[in-house]
Amino acid sequence: FVHAELWSSDALLDVQPLPGQGGFGKVFLCCEVDGTSKPLEAVALEMVSKDPPFPGIIRMLDFYKTRGAWVIITEKPENTQDLFDYITTCKLLREDTAREFLGQVIQALLHCHSRGVVHMDVKDENLLLDLSTRKLLLIDFGSAVFLKPDKEYDTFDGTATYAPPERLTRGCYKALPSEVWSLRILLYDMVHGDIGLRGPDKMVFEQHARRETDAERHTGPHLDAEARLGGARGPRT
Ligand SMILES: Nc1ncnc2c1ncn2[C@@H]1O[C@H](COP(=O)(O)OP(=O)(O)OP(=O)(O)O)[C@@H](O)[C@H]1O
Ligand SMILES: [Mg+2]
Repeated sequence: FVHAELWSSDALLDVQPLPGQGGFGKVFLCCEVDGTSKPLEAVALEMVSKDPPFPGIIRMLDFYKTRGAWVIITEKPENTQDLFDYITTCKLLREDTAREFLGQVIQALLHCHSRGVVHMDVKDENLLLDLSTRKLLLIDFGSAVFLKPDKEYDTFDGTATYAPPERLTRGCYKALPSEVWSLRILLYDMVHGDIGLRGPDKMVFEQHARRETDAERHTGPHLDAEARLGGARGPRT
């Protein structure tokens, strides 16, 4: 599976969010490793998917830079479906299935933490289900950060509907509690067939999303409130 990310020569130092989007829809972060600038997604994948590979995490086979993009090559397991599509097909999952899947995701995330990485974009779209073995694979480390337990993050590159409430109310959040929150959204999604942003929660979220969208029209990613609300594929219901 080939995953191309746009390359910008401005993204050379430390871990810096880049404003803007490109043809493949994803802005990436870069970091300096041994004097060489590499996309953070590839660095994170190297840290979590090698020596030895972890069964619940997609394996990166290679990555390289072309003139206009970084190309990341991962394994492409047979007979898989991402969990978003799987839940869409099933409508919702049985509780014992959801429990089993959640356990697998937690094992994969704990492994990432043990290697110093927090995924930061846990959601159904970023989990591949092997339909033969019923095992999940965590993919898409495009929003990953290095684990710094006490750091307060004030930028967010994951999926807004899975982000913790303190991101909206305080404008900052910690990585590990944020990931726990996204697991809560994922669990709800699995057992209800959707992420469950309704009623007052939905209104508060929409207000914040619109306010951010207005602010970012001048500074950053041009996502509209609807896109933020639904995440990449939009709500099922
Ligand atoms: N190794 C893989 N094998 C099979 N399918 C994959 C693999 N990697 C990604 N996919 C599929 O492609 C989708 C998008 O991939 P991924 O999540 O890595 O990219 P993304 O950064 O979210 O994409 P975008 O650039 O659109 O934001 C996944 O939701 C999944 O359906
Ligand atoms: Mg993704």
